[in-house]
This record gives sequence, C-alpha cells and structure tokens, in this order.
Amino acid sequence: MSEAVDLLFTNVHLATMVPTAVDGYGEMVDAALAVKDGRIAWLGARRDAPPAAAEHDCGGAWMTPGLVDCHTHVVHAGNRSNEWEARLNGASYEDIARQGGGIMSTVRATREADAETLLAQSLPRVARLLSEGVTTLEIKSGYGLALDAEARMLRAAREVGKRLPVRVATTFLGAHALPPEFAGRADDYVLEVCERMLPPLAGEGLVDAVDAFCERIGFSNAQTERIFLAARALGLPVKLHAEQLSDQQGAELVARYGGLSADHLEYLSQAGIDAMARAGTVAVLLPGAYYFLRETMPPPIGALREAKVAMAIATDCNPGTSPMTSLLLAMNMACTLWRLTPQEALQGATIHAARALGLHGDIGSLEVGKQADLALWDIARPADLAYAMGSNPCRSVVNGGAVRPAHISV
Ligand code: NIG
Ligand code: FE
Repeated sequence: MSEAVDLLFTNVHLATMVPTAVDGYGEMVDAALAVKDGRIAWLGARRDAPPAAAEHDCGGAWMTPGLVDCHTHVVHAGNRSNEWEARLNGASYEDIARQGGGIMSTVRATREADAETLLAQSLPRVARLLSEGVTTLEIKSGYGLALDAEARMLRAAREVGKRLPVRVATTFLGAHALPPEFAGRADDYVLEVCERMLPPLAGEGLVDAVDAFCERIGFSNAQTERIFLAARALGLPVKLHAEQLSDQQGAELVARYGGLSADHLEYLSQAGIDAMARAGTVAVLLPGAYYFLRETMPPPIGALREAKVAMAIATDCNPGTSPMTSLLLAMNMACTLWRLTPQEALQGATIHAARALGLHGDIGSLEVGKQADLALWDIARPADLAYAMGSNPCRSVVNGGAVRPAHISV
C-alpha cells in the first residue's frame, strides 16, 4: 500500500478474533494496525506498515475488536432492588407479584418516565458498559407494552447512539409480557403487537430486529410464530428469548425463521441445537441471569460446541434478572459457571456477538475493510479479559478510527 493512511497504531499486540485463524485468538505480537476513513486499512508487522498521517503508540497494549453486547434491556426506568431485598428477607415471588411487582413494576416506571428521564436513567448504565471497551450495543424495548411507550423506549435507544460513542442495534420486544389492559386476552395482545405496534415502529426506522419471550409465563410457540410472520412481512430479522425456564421448542422455531439468535437456552434440547446448527442461528448465553436467578440448569455448552453452533455472551442488563453492566464479568461467569474457555468467551463478546446482530460483515474482528471499532487493554495475554473479576483493564477505545479514553462519564 503506497497511499498514506490516516492513523497507524504501533507497539501493539493484536487478538484479531478472525474465525478462521489457526490460533483461536488470531494473535499477532509486536504488530501494527492502520486506519483509513474509519475502517481497518491494513494490519501486520510494524516494519511493513504503510506511511501514515498520524501515529498512536499503544505502549505494548493488546488490541481486540471493540466488544459487542448483543442482548440488553439497558433502557428502562427504575430498579427492583427493593424486590430483591424482600425476596432475600423471605418474601415469595407470588407475594411480590400480588403487590404489583416483578416485570410490571418496571413497565409502570418506564411508562411514567418521559423521554428525557428515561434517557437520563439509562445513559449511566450504558456509560459503564462502554468504559469496558464495548463499541456496539443491542437495546431491546419491552417495558412499554403499548405503542407510545415502546416507541419512547426505542427512540431513547437510538438517542443513546447519538449521545455516546457506541453503535446501537435496536430490537422490538413488544411480546415481553402481557400488559394489564390485555389480561386474559394474550391472543388479542399478539394481534396488537403484529398489526398496530410493529408496522409503525418499523416505519419510523426504530426496529433492527424483532424478539419475543417464548415461555410458559410469556408467549406460546404459536403466538411467537405469529410475531415472526409479521416481522417477515416487513423484512425484519428475528431472535428469541428461548428455553430460559422450560423447553418450548423456541429454538427450533426461531431457526425455522432463519433467526439471528436464540438467547438464554438453559433448557435447550438436542433437536433445538441441531436446528440452530442447520440455520446458523447463534446461541446467546446470558450467565448474569443464570447467576442472579440462582438457576441450576446450565445451557448445554458441550453439545452446542459439538454441533459447532456459534456461542455469544451478553449481559442481558435488566432490572429483574440481570442488573449487570459488565460484559467482562459476564465473560468470567461463562467460563467459571459453564466452563467456556477464555477464548470462547472473547469470541462470544466479539465476532459471535456481531453475528448475533447480523453485523459480522462489518464488525467483530480485526480484518481489513471492517469498521475500526477497537479496544486497547493493559493485559499480559487475551485470557486476562475473562480472568480478572471486578477490574477494568481497558486503556482506550476506538470508534470508527476515533480514539477515546476508556472511562466515560455522563
Ligand atoms: O431477559 N426473560 C425475560 N426477560 C428478561 C427479564 C425481565 C425482567 O424481569 O424485567 C430477561 O431475563
Ligand atoms: Fe433478556
């Protein structure tokens, strides 16, 4: 390459996370990486580097693709620490539900919050995620459960991407729970979601993908399929909260619709795994929810590995089951609780997470032509990212070629 690049990162070790790399991390020590027009233009040995308009000495840091948190409910109002405390003091889940708690308390708080309040409560959570090297974030709706409130959540999600240095992928989760106005009329609510909520939200450009909670306490397999048909009619990709508490054959369903991902998966069957493998549907694992709910059934990691289903890891950041704003901690939990390897954990927070959003052609690995979304780490080796608990070794972050300090305050 003879033409000068915009910026050259030097004195850096790369974990490229290219899926075909012989070494799973795709390690390149003492390397350099060049950026032009916000994209990766070149990477290789320092001595072969192209001329550059500017240079950034990384001081021997490791560089990975920017992390991707591919499953969050980070936009919501209020929290539920009061319910958590009550449960630890002996209250049953039913007691709390009878007092109007659980997911409906977050729905109430979110419905009551105006756009600025919703954003003001959500931005600090996002900032914590971004301080750990996250450059792409998926954000779901699902605490509005009515057209105006769902729209407010999705607009807030888009606004997050304007106010902070992060690429946001939005997911419409209107079928997250049955709102009180539709008590006893779940089929009518599904019709509302399909015909009166999804089309205008998609028309406003607020929906990158469609999700549902397929569960005994959520929506049935047949109801979920109606939502997938509505998504398909609008040309939108689907994903699913599947087999979290029981096997509803949600994974088979979402795979049949060519789904981007099936998420949670503690009660996933072999038939579900086979269907996902055939369809290329990513398994999004959410160890924060497993931990916080004191679940004891682990997802079938060995069988997923055997079937070569790509495994992603996400925070599931939400006030009820995973009040977590650390993707690095989620990686540690996936290794400690389920014996993922640190390499699988980093793949799960980069290239496989990008695939779960349909963005793997553009982000998730260090490859020429991809967006220059990068994270720089003060670590001895890539395994350190999943190893250390509660420390943040992120030195700086690069969004589309622009370098920023790791810490973000809002
Ligand atoms: O991903 N599983 C369903 N939904 C969320 C939790 C919602 C809540 O309790 O607020 C989850 O775990
Ligand atoms: Fe979730």
